[in-house]
Amino acid sequence: MTRPRKLFVKSYGCQMNVYDSNRMADTLAPEGFVETATAEDADLVILNTCHIREKAAEKVYSELGRLRVLKTAAQAEGRKLTVAVAGCVAQAEGEEILRRAPVVDLVFGPQSYHRLPDLLARAERDGRAIDTEFPVETKFDFLPAPSRDKVRARGVTAFVTIQEGCDKFCTFCVVPYTRGAESSRPVAKIAAEVERLAAAGVREVTLIGQNVNAFHGDDVDGSTCSLGRLLRRLAEIPGIARLRYTTSHPRDIDEELIATHRDLDALMPQLHLPVQSGSDRILKAMNRRHTADDYRRVIDRLRGAQPALAFTSDFIVGFPGETDADFEATLRLIEDVGFVTAFSFKYSPRPGTPAAELADQVPETIKSERLQALQALILRLNAQFQRYCVGRAFDVLFEKPGRHPGQIVGRSPYLQPVQVLGPETLIGEVRRVRVTEAGPNSLFGDLAIAPSARRDAAAALTATGA
Ligand code: 5AD
Ligand code: SF4
Repeated sequence: MTRPRKLFVKSYGCQMNVYDSNRMADTLAPEGFVETATAEDADLVILNTCHIREKAAEKVYSELGRLRVLKTAAQAEGRKLTVAVAGCVAQAEGEEILRRAPVVDLVFGPQSYHRLPDLLARAERDGRAIDTEFPVETKFDFLPAPSRDKVRARGVTAFVTIQEGCDKFCTFCVVPYTRGAESSRPVAKIAAEVERLAAAGVREVTLIGQNVNAFHGDDVDGSTCSLGRLLRRLAEIPGIARLRYTTSHPRDIDEELIATHRDLDALMPQLHLPVQSGSDRILKAMNRRHTADDYRRVIDRLRGAQPALAFTSDFIVGFPGETDADFEATLRLIEDVGFVTAFSFKYSPRPGTPAAELADQVPETIKSERLQALQALILRLNAQFQRYCVGRAFDVLFEKPGRHPGQIVGRSPYLQPVQVLGPETLIGEVRRVRVTEAGPNSLFGDLAIAPSARRDAAAALTATGA
């Protein structure tokens, strides 16, 4: 029997890349590849890259420098280390990577990973290979299901891609170019994947897509299914206790989805809804096609339907032409909505996007100052939310043993890690926890006697108006 080959996949960027990395491993399992935890002992290293901001691509090039050393060392030992670059940098830069980094054997985009075995054979035969096509066939039809053991090893929560690509063309964003046009998976395929995950012990599923609430998958009866309807359908799958979805666009929050937040206990009351800026002028220049008040209204409608909802968002500071007044409008929006946390970024011009061509780019120092101010505000709001949780009870889905003996760790409905003293038999279970203490990142609490529904937690939140 031949020695199993070892595979190390490193993911950068978003959760879809994490999902894709797992699918790459699934695709290579029938080829005799087993996953390993480090690049040092791997036969194949895949960097699954992100192109959304500058630093992400730079990190990849510096990692390739490190891999060059490993490859030479492997060669000296008579081993071959194959290096592949996948994901959005691969899609955007393609040939440029092969030119700039001779260590790379294989380059392939996000739509090609079902062809990995074939690509590897091509690289083996021809020295190097590249595939950055957007094929007509969908990769999802070719992906093998992961084994039950593999799913178990990956834990009680899982991501499932339901939609990919984006047609929104925000002027700062590379996604429409790297991930391509928006497409949704058929409902039957998604349901089958979630059923398989549930059967292997997964209790929480996060539906992912670049613009996930634009989902419009074919349903079994030939009709088009919205995200709201899909969530209701998936909540019926035995074993699925919790559902989430990310990332959404404010323009695609429809009445059905809002009603689903009202009706569906399994749908967690936390929503990541990127707004990017609070200034109408900048929102227009970003081609977001909504105003700050439109956004406030969407939040109000969602809160009207589900008062327990907590919101998180993404912000870009220093978009071309952003003035102090524009930035202050962003801070005002953050205060008004009361986000519980947020990701924030300095605007980074991406080659090929319209905003990169704009004349009035904001100086780096101003970007840094604004980022700091925005992050200080977000930190304050986050600390406020953490404190607010103390003394309250939440349902927690336990995921793994804690750092200290006797401890287990789970997640609150709001994705906060929650640590309690409790038996490991509770891993994979949802239990009520009374929060006794809050740190900056985690909550600490005691197991309450009886498990109960999320509704109670929601009611508690409503009573004090989180
Ligand atoms: N510069 C800075 N941030 C960006 N994002 C997307 N493109 C850029 C860019 N060119 C941020 C947005 C988006 C998140 C995923 O990344 O806030 O919501
Ligand atoms: Fe990029 Fe999101 Fe805008 Fe699509 S909606 S272009 S993914 S920022």
